[in-house]
Amino acid sequence: MSTQTAWAYTDKVKDHFMNPRNVLDDENRYPADGKGVVGNVKCGDEMMVAIQVDKEKGTITDCKWKTYGCASAIASTSVLSEMVIGMTLDEAYHLSPKDIMAELGSLPEHKVHCSVLGDKALRTAINDYYARNGMADKVAKEGARTVCQCMNVTDREIEDAVLEGARTFYELQERTKLGTVCGQCEEEATGLLNEYTEKHFGENG
Ligand code: FES
Repeated sequence: MSTQTAWAYTDKVKDHFMNPRNVLDDENRYPADGKGVVGNVKCGDEMMVAIQVDKEKGTITDCKWKTYGCASAIASTSVLSEMVIGMTLDEAYHLSPKDIMAELGSLPEHKVHCSVLGDKALRTAINDYYARNGMADKVAKEGARTVCQCMNVTDREIEDAVLEGARTFYELQERTKLGTVCGQCEEEATGLLNEYTEKHFGENG
């Protein structure tokens, strides 16, 4: 991936960008069982994911989405929406940007963080489903702590970013977009960055 140029998108990425699947046309007419919105429309990267659920089986029967994000966000969420249909809520919740990337056949490195948006909105939609259906305990169990309130980035995502190679606050920011609005989360995020780096890559890790 590192040898790719900025615009070296794979054919699959281009296909999903040109012909995005499962786009939500009319939010008001879609009976969602769970809905998640992340990002900030002012930054041009808002993402909304809505799911329908088979309540007996606990599986996702439909997934629609809408974004004002970039080509990479569109392609990765399009492919994500196809991947999750038929999955259990638990399986879908634990999909990572890496899984989406593997399905897409990779993105230019500096665009990887865009794929986090759809994935994050999906987890928010699943938690919304749990909350609406009296499964708040499930939300607490699955949920991670939000560190950056502005960009809705959790400690779990910081850990994922560290596992994917982020070592500096700037790299963490590039991957997760945390700290890009009010900046108040920087100190806590830096502490977690060091903690997770030590945990996974330190001499005692
Ligand atoms: S809390 Fe992270 S940018 Fe505002």
